[in-house]
Amino acid sequence: METVNSLVIVGAQWGDEGKGKVIDFLSAKADLVARFQGGDNAGHTVVYGANIFKLHHVPSGILNPKTLCLLGNGMVINPLVLVREMDELEKRGIDTSNLRISAKAHLIMTYHQALDEANELMLADKKIGTTGRGIGPAYADKVLRRGIRAGALADPALFSERLTEVLPLQNRILKDIFGHPGFDLAELLALYRPALERLGPLVTDTGRMIAEQMAAGKKVLFEGAQGALLDIDHGTYPFVTSSSTVAAAAASGTGLGPANVNRVLGVLKAYTTRVGEGPFPTEDLSEAGDQLRERGNEFGTTTGRPRRCGWFDAVVARYAARINGLTGLAVTKLDVLSGMEVINLAVGYRCRGKDIDYFPEGIQDLSHCEPQYESFPGWDEDLSRARSYEDLPEAAQNFLKALEDTVGVRIDLISVGPDRSQTIICKGSQIENWSDARQE
Ligand code: GDP
Ligand code: IMO
Ligand code: MG
Repeated sequence: METVNSLVIVGAQWGDEGKGKVIDFLSAKADLVARFQGGDNAGHTVVYGANIFKLHHVPSGILNPKTLCLLGNGMVINPLVLVREMDELEKRGIDTSNLRISAKAHLIMTYHQALDEANELMLADKKIGTTGRGIGPAYADKVLRRGIRAGALADPALFSERLTEVLPLQNRILKDIFGHPGFDLAELLALYRPALERLGPLVTDTGRMIAEQMAAGKKVLFEGAQGALLDIDHGTYPFVTSSSTVAAAAASGTGLGPANVNRVLGVLKAYTTRVGEGPFPTEDLSEAGDQLRERGNEFGTTTGRPRRCGWFDAVVARYAARINGLTGLAVTKLDVLSGMEVINLAVGYRCRGKDIDYFPEGIQDLSHCEPQYESFPGWDEDLSRARSYEDLPEAAQNFLKALEDTVGVRIDLISVGPDRSQTIICKGSQIENWSDARQE
C-alpha cells in the first residue's frame, strides 16, 4: 500500500466535527502540523486521560514534543490571545518551542474585535453570530491591503510604523459609524510590546520549512479550522466565516501547490451541529435534538454557546466531498448515538416540490428544503471501548455502511469518545500505514 506522507484534515460540516481530536491522534507520528486558515475563532479540543486542551491558534500537534507546529500564511493571528494560549500550555507542562509563525499571516488587532462586535450589534436580528474574535474585519483589511502582517512582530519599528499608518482610519470608522471611542496609538503600542518580544523570534518563512520537510519525505498534516459549510465561497453565505476552509486552501495557505495536498480526510460527526445563525436543513428542534446536545455535550469550545443539533446530512457530506476532493472520512462521536431508538440519515431534500440529491446553490433555496430521511434502528451498547470495527454492534455497522454508501467516500477512521485512545482505524484505509507506524 502507498505510504501517505501528507494529509489535509478538514471539517466537512459546520465546524466542531472533532478535527482537534483526529489531528492530535495522527500527529503522534507527524513531523509537522500546519494551520492554514482562520484564527482564534477555532476551538479544537484534545483529550488524553484527564487532560483536556482547548486550542485556538496553536496546531493540535503541539502535545507531541517532536512535532513542528506552524501557523501558516493563510491565518489571521491575534498576538495577545496567542501569547495567553502559549502561556497556558507552558503552565501545563506543554513545550511550545516548536511553534513558528508565518511572516505573511495577518494580525487580528483590538480594533478588528471592536469592529466585529459593532457590526454584529448593527445587524441586530440579521446578525451572523460570529465568535466575536475579529476574524471578518482582519481578513477584510488583508484584502483591502491595509492589514498588518505577522512579520511586523519581529520588527518593532515596522509594527509602530504600520499601526501609525492604519489606526487613524480604523478610529474614524469606529467613531463615526459605530460611536465607539476608538483606540489610542501610544496605549496600543504599549499593549502589544510584550507580544512582539515573545512572538517576534518565532516569525519565519514557514512555507520554506514545509517545502523542505516534504522534500525530505517527512510526514506533514494540514489542520483545517471551521468546516466546508462555513467556507467563504462555498458555505451558506453570508452565514459563513471569512476564510476559505476547504482543502485547496491548505496549499495557498501554507505556500505549496495543489499536488502537495491530494489526500484529504474530511471529519464529520455521526450527526450534525452548527453554532451561530444560518440555514441548517436537518436541525432537529424536538426532543431528539436536545438528546444529541446533552449526550454529545454540544456547547461551543470558543464561546460556550449551545450548538444547534440535528441528524447526519449526506447531502451536505456529498457536497463537502466534492468541494474538498475528500479521499476519506473520519466519523466522530458515534458513541453519542448509543441509546437513540431510531437514527435518521438525510439522503436527499425535497425542494420546492422537487426531489434533489445535491446541495442547492443559494441559501434562498436551502430554506425551502425538507430533508428526506432514511431511518435506522439504534443500539444500546456503549461504544466507548470499541477499538476495532468488529467491536461495533451490527446496528452501528449498518448505519456506518449506509452513511459510507450514500456519501460515496470510504470511512478511514471512527471515533467513539473524546480520548485519543477511543479511535478506530479502518482496515485498508489510506491512513492505515500512518496508524500502524504509530503502534511500532
Ligand atoms: P473541532 O473544532 O473540530 O476540533 O471540534 P471541537 O473540539 O470544537 O468539538 C468536538 C467536541 O467533541 C470536543 O469536546 C471533543 O472532545 C469531543 N469529541 C471528539 N470526538 C469525540 C467522540 O468520538 N465522542 C465524543 N463523545 N466526543 C468527542
Ligand atoms: P472550529 O475550527 C464552529 C462560525 C461562527 C459563526 C460563523 C462566523 O472549532 O470548527 P467568525 O467568528 O468566524 O466570523 O464567525 O462561523 N464559526 C465556527 N463554528 N466551529 C468553528 O471553528 C467556528 N469558527 C467560526 O459561529 O456562525
Ligand atoms: Mg471547535
